[in-house]
Amino acid sequence: MKNPIIVALDFPDMNQAKECIDKLSSKIEIFKVGLELFLNTGGEILDYLRSKNKKVFLDLKFHDIPNTVLHAAKFALAKDLFMFNVHTSGGYQMMKAVAKEAKGSKSLVIGVTLLTSLDQDDIFEMFGTEKKLSEVVFNLANVLKKAGLNGVVCSAKEAKMLKEKLGNDFITVCPGIRPQGGEQGDQKRVVTPAWAIKNGVDYMVIGRPITKAKDPVLVVEEILKEINQ
Ligand code: C5P
Repeated sequence: MKNPIIVALDFPDMNQAKECIDKLSSKIEIFKVGLELFLNTGGEILDYLRSKNKKVFLDLKFHDIPNTVLHAAKFALAKDLFMFNVHTSGGYQMMKAVAKEAKGSKSLVIGVTLLTSLDQDDIFEMFGTEKKLSEVVFNLANVLKKAGLNGVVCSAKEAKMLKEKLGNDFITVCPGIRPQGGEQGDQKRVVTPAWAIKNGVDYMVIGRPITKAKDPVLVVEEILKEINQ
């Protein structure tokens, strides 16, 4: 059975994270550690996940000048992660420095294009451009590919277009996934799990719809049933 779910462990402390990991352990292979949990556990969560033989997506979205990001990437590469990310808007030179360092490592390095909490109005307000959101995403992804990284974090609505233009092996990791009837929260560009899989999503990052559910295991089972139908 195909399982492309990455569960986002957005918790303020180790105990809540451990409880969630242990509950989902039989169903989920990859967990995402973001800023909140990484900072609140001083990075210790990475060792816990390794002790449980889980794969880790370290979502710290490195965004700085090439030299600074390179040293952050060295830290991530030494942690033997499944995946970690940078911000594509850090630019070509920054991503190239990371790609060179990551060569030969088994960690995938991807880049955030535009956050799924942004929409077309935000693009106009932030960048003063009438350019379509999908064009901005493509430009950023194209620079990332030239720099030699493996794929992007994007909205599922852009995954198919990116695969068509940049190749089927270009990895798409998509948050903003909501099971039918689920609460949207602060996400603006959302789709259902089945829609995501049909439209070129390799991995779907799901947080609150699973972690805040009364029965997280049941939600995972329902999502897997939906996407494997
Ligand atoms: O709870 P929810 O399913 O909205 O969680 C989505 C997760 O994906 C969060 O951990 C968020 O930080 C992350 N993320 C995102 N948009 C991006 C990159 C990461 O929502 N572009």
